[in-house]
Amino acid sequence: MGRIIFLGIAIFMVLLPDLYIYFSKVHVSFSSDRAKKIGKIFYFSTLLIQFGGMFFLMYYLWYLQADRNGFTNILQAFIWTMFIVKFIMLPFLLFGDIYKIFELFHYKTTKVSELPEKIHERRNFIKQAAVVVAAIPFFSFLHGMTLGKYNFKIKKIKLAFKDLPESFQGFKIAQFSDFHAGSFDNISNVKYGLDLLQKQGADVILFTGDLVNHYAEEVDPYIDLFQVLNAPYGQYASTGNHDYGYRNEKSKSFENIKKIKEKYAACNFKLLNNENIKIEKNGEHINIAGVENWGAGRFFPKKGDLDKAFENINKNDFTILMSHDPTHWDTKIKQHPKQVHLTLSGHTHGAQMGVELFGLKWSPGKYVYKRWAGLYEEANQYLYVNRGFGMLEGFSFRTGIFPEITVFELEREV
Ligand SMILES: [Fe+2]
Repeated sequence: MGRIIFLGIAIFMVLLPDLYIYFSKVHVSFSSDRAKKIGKIFYFSTLLIQFGGMFFLMYYLWYLQADRNGFTNILQAFIWTMFIVKFIMLPFLLFGDIYKIFELFHYKTTKVSELPEKIHERRNFIKQAAVVVAAIPFFSFLHGMTLGKYNFKIKKIKLAFKDLPESFQGFKIAQFSDFHAGSFDNISNVKYGLDLLQKQGADVILFTGDLVNHYAEEVDPYIDLFQVLNAPYGQYASTGNHDYGYRNEKSKSFENIKKIKEKYAACNFKLLNNENIKIEKNGEHINIAGVENWGAGRFFPKKGDLDKAFENINKNDFTILMSHDPTHWDTKIKQHPKQVHLTLSGHTHGAQMGVELFGLKWSPGKYVYKRWAGLYEEANQYLYVNRGFGMLEGFSFRTGIFPEITVFELEREV
């Protein structure tokens, strides 16, 4: 019963903006007959796909419990697109209506204002502006659900540290995160991304978790592709929240979680579960530590144990830590007596949508996570939040925030 009420409220919330847009007659606000006709065809066909698609997906994915595929991914991404695009139009329409009420009131009371036809014309102009503005996210999302989601970006970052041993001057670390194997729908594009990662010629490759959405078997089609990765100082990983199962008892079972950990090994990644390794070069060394997932909030596993992860590491020894969830940094890592020179995280996916253009950096993710993407520094400690390699299940798009491979080059600060 609770589920039906929730569904009812959800459908109503989705319907509400749509009803407002329908009764605002945005689709017939352009003056020429041809534009009106195109507006009508576009509006009703997208409406059909949006709501028909919603019911189809509910039936196919929830009722039949069928697997997602390229078609359901595109359909679901399109539904999200239309929802977001319409949401963006709402403030314009609301402004147009408030303007109309205000002007009509002014006209009726004073009779010295402009004629209602003029008001109508101006309100139509606001509606047209709403359509033009909404076209930008509409086409951005079309790109995001087709090409954008595999548009891998290499971010190159040079970082200087006083404590870095001399032998590690120029040492290259490649990081990727949030693979989410079950969300992909194109093997050759995933292959392209992993090949690109290997081409960076990193000394060590670090993977900061979320190999799967729910189940160990999701990785099977990609195990062969992972064999291309080969870094001279090894490949290490830490687990993400999704690696502990989310969906149901089967995904949370000991058996599934154990298998997921084995899949990391099958992909040639050694998991650092609250432990560390030393990378040695010319008699000097740096430490790479990894913790199991630790995330603030009651939904996230809190298995990360820093004391265990830093065992046998001296206080000032140069140390890189893999911790999937960046909330760990603010809550625990920064305050820990062991200084962590660089913490590598992921988890946020940069919300998979936003703008990173001409120095502007914005995403709705910033309202959820204080550290949502990129480099942060406090008290001589760095945190880097990778935007993720894959996508969250059911959100098969990357709009403005593209999949990322990060390459760090370490330098000695003099
Ligand atoms: Fe993730």
